[in-house]
Amino acid sequence: MKSSAISGFYKLSIDERLRLVKEFADLTDEEVSALKASGALSLDLADRMIENVIGVFPMPMGIAVNFLINGRDYLIPMVIEETSVVAAASHGAKMTRSKGGIFASSTEPVMIGQIQAVKIKDPYRARMSILEAKEDILKKANEQDPMLVSVGGGAKDLRVKVIDTIKGPMVITELLVDCRDAMGANAVNTMCEAVAPLIAHITGGKVLLRIVSNLATERLARAWTIVDKNAVGGEEVVDSIIDAYAFAAADPYRAATHNKGILNGIISVALATCNDHRAIEAGAHAYAARFGCYMPLSVWEKNEDGDLVGSIEMPMAVGIIGGATKVHPIAKIALKILGVKSARELAEVMVSVGLAQNLAALRALVSEGIQRGHMELHARNIAIMAGATGELIDIIADRMVKERKIRMDRAREILEEYRGRADEGLKKLLA
Ligand code: MEV
Repeated sequence: MKSSAISGFYKLSIDERLRLVKEFADLTDEEVSALKASGALSLDLADRMIENVIGVFPMPMGIAVNFLINGRDYLIPMVIEETSVVAAASHGAKMTRSKGGIFASSTEPVMIGQIQAVKIKDPYRARMSILEAKEDILKKANEQDPMLVSVGGGAKDLRVKVIDTIKGPMVITELLVDCRDAMGANAVNTMCEAVAPLIAHITGGKVLLRIVSNLATERLARAWTIVDKNAVGGEEVVDSIIDAYAFAAADPYRAATHNKGILNGIISVALATCNDHRAIEAGAHAYAARFGCYMPLSVWEKNEDGDLVGSIEMPMAVGIIGGATKVHPIAKIALKILGVKSARELAEVMVSVGLAQNLAALRALVSEGIQRGHMELHARNIAIMAGATGELIDIIADRMVKERKIRMDRAREILEEYRGRADEGLKKLLA
């Protein structure tokens, strides 16, 4: 079995990394070329994806290593503009390998579609009537997507609630639609629009909104991990990480940042696979606040061996078919690198990336802080921009970090120093 635990991956050249990823995911030469060509999304295709196109917008795509999820190794494609996130995900995943990696599961991929009915005098009677017509409504919904029904998905159930609003009571019908491997917003919206006249007729009210809900509480992904205390730096660090979690659980100002760290990982994979990241973010934050108080999405505790135990649960509305996932050439390759066979598997991988990302952030925050890691990467970038190549990149970056002078002028000075030394060596050899 191929392992994702590739040490020193970050030190390799882009070509060497691509060679390893190609081997891992059986990529073709064309796919490797597409990854290397930063303009792989043609203007023509872009023009068919959205309106008013004037160009394409390239972003860096990196690979997080070390992920072991449900006993299987994954390389994780991540698209993100922020330094350190890919490195942190890899580091977090490495720590989780100490006790078998991350274990993930998910519910059936069921999305909720809402149909709002207003101006109903007797809303509770209307609710009963809608429930009585359940079979007809589900049938009408399923007629919209025979393909989805043929693969085992479709509208499975319906629930109706009466809500109190500033405009009086409203009757909200919720269609529960199994979207299988699609994210499903389109399918759900189509079904909601199709059953709306039926609901208007049954209730005698006026139907307004017919739209998917991004609070996808029926489509949850879960992950947990045990991290050996020695892998995080000892029991004191375990306790500090739990203190950090307790801070987030007691203070929404911290919880928002805690969850931002989780989303750093999840959204990077959403972008790489062209999934709707806004839907995931909306679902994540609404879920975090579902008890009326904004809470962290993950929980960290300590087991009887003193090891760190982390878990996470959140909505994860993602697909591997439909939408842009199968249109965007790089997203297709990202899915191939991931090797996921279903939307549920992708959701499980993504929530695991979120957990590992969170672990790495908390581990750094309770010890040296995150700036050091940020600075190291920043220093490498500055060294490269100053003209350093090969081993000199790390040498110059290290010196700048130690001196706490991460600046272009300093990078150039150190580079000159080394070039001077190299010239001296050459002169001696020639003499
Ligand atoms: C930075 O992008 C993310 C962190 O702020 C997350 C956290 O504080 O847990 C480091």
